[in-house]
Amino acid sequence: MRIKRLTIFLLALSILFIWIVSTYIFFPTRAFNNEMGKMKHIMKQLDELEGGVSQIMGANKNILHEMASEYDLRIEKIKKATEKEISQDEKLKKLQKSFNGGPVIPVIVFACNRITVIRCLDQLIQYRPDPRQFPIIVSQDCNDLQTKNAINTNYGDKLTLIEQPDQSDIQVPPKEKKFKGYFKIARHYGWALNQTFFKYNFDTAIIVEDDLDIAPDFFEYFVGTYYLLKHDPTLWCISAWNDNGKSNLVDMENGASKLYRTDFFPGLGWMLTKELWTELAPKWPKAYWDDWIRRPEQRKDRACIRPEISRTRTFGKYGVSNGLFYEKHLKYIQLNDKFVPFSKMDLTYLLKNYYDEPFLKEVYDNSIEVSYHNLRTLVLPEKQSIRIPYTKETYKKAARAVGLMDDFKSGVPRTGYRGIITFHWNGRTAYLAPPRNWNGYDPSWS
Ligand SMILES: *[C@@H]1O[C@H](CO)[C@@H](O)[C@H](O)[C@H]1NC(C)=O
Repeated sequence: MRIKRLTIFLLALSILFIWIVSTYIFFPTRAFNNEMGKMKHIMKQLDELEGGVSQIMGANKNILHEMASEYDLRIEKIKKATEKEISQDEKLKKLQKSFNGGPVIPVIVFACNRITVIRCLDQLIQYRPDPRQFPIIVSQDCNDLQTKNAINTNYGDKLTLIEQPDQSDIQVPPKEKKFKGYFKIARHYGWALNQTFFKYNFDTAIIVEDDLDIAPDFFEYFVGTYYLLKHDPTLWCISAWNDNGKSNLVDMENGASKLYRTDFFPGLGWMLTKELWTELAPKWPKAYWDDWIRRPEQRKDRACIRPEISRTRTFGKYGVSNGLFYEKHLKYIQLNDKFVPFSKMDLTYLLKNYYDEPFLKEVYDNSIEVSYHNLRTLVLPEKQSIRIPYTKETYKKAARAVGLMDDFKSGVPRTGYRGIITFHWNGRTAYLAPPRNWNGYDPSWS
């Protein structure tokens, strides 16, 4: 009986236990409800988070996509640029053949950040007789976008633009900081002329800077004198510039066709050969190339041809060289406006073998000697040429008395030939001349 009671008791206890547990499971308490609420909240937040994450993932996908297409675009651009360069190279290399039996002479225009280069380019294109004979290559330094765009949008295939790739900073001695521009110019020349002669293999080139106006017969002048440069080893350049080309010092009426030899390197629109560049390139200076080229080690007694009336004129007053020189001097240089058919003229009188003897005879035997003191008071026979003697002591005074440039570079006076400066004076030819026994320039004259 006792066992039966115990069994009933245990049974009751079990039922009670099950009841308690079941109530706990099936009828959750408030506390439990709270927990569930929190759980749900967390789940919701997780949902939101997932949504956010997938949104971000989506955005990232877009960015990746954009990056990929940007990358493609760049590859495309690079491809195009290389293609352009290749076709440019092909184009330039093809151009080196002769034209109508005559020479092909590229014009290298040096540009940097002056948008005024288009003034120069307009004139070159306007006066150029044939683009096949005179390809225009604009070499740009300085990476200036505005200038580059101006060149690219205005001229199409009328010219070729090449860009100086080395834009690294140049180490300049502290004292020469303000002359940094001259260092950049020399580097640019070195690169561009290497391209012209060694890469594109032209045999001659005309150099023009971005601040030059040119005369209508600019090209004709260079074609006509090309053979002189090629055949006379005592010539190393043809220049379009007369350093003393002011209106009162040139024969504006009849001087357009007159040409001279000069020991002074004028620059400012000039032609050189590949042979000369091959000689100069390995020792090309870091700066001040024009003063460097005028030194005896470079010049080696060679001369240039220069016109009586300039075929170029500089309008650039805000360049590297100082504005004062422009205001006082450069802006008065006359630009020729008559067309002279140089290529149809016999210019062999300019070859050294034909030139020197008659020239010296004319200066020392056929002209009247006049001291610079008496120039304005003396009455002279009409048209008779005059010789104004000078020595080291009197050169500057005599030059100033007539309005000539009075400076020297490596001892050579501007436009001088064998020490003699030829100019036009009140309707006659005049020579500022050293003693007859002159025997060379003295670099100590400055
Ligand atoms: C130009 O070429 C010469 C000769 O090959 C070389 O010595 C010189 O370094 C080159 N200059 C430039 C700027 O590339």
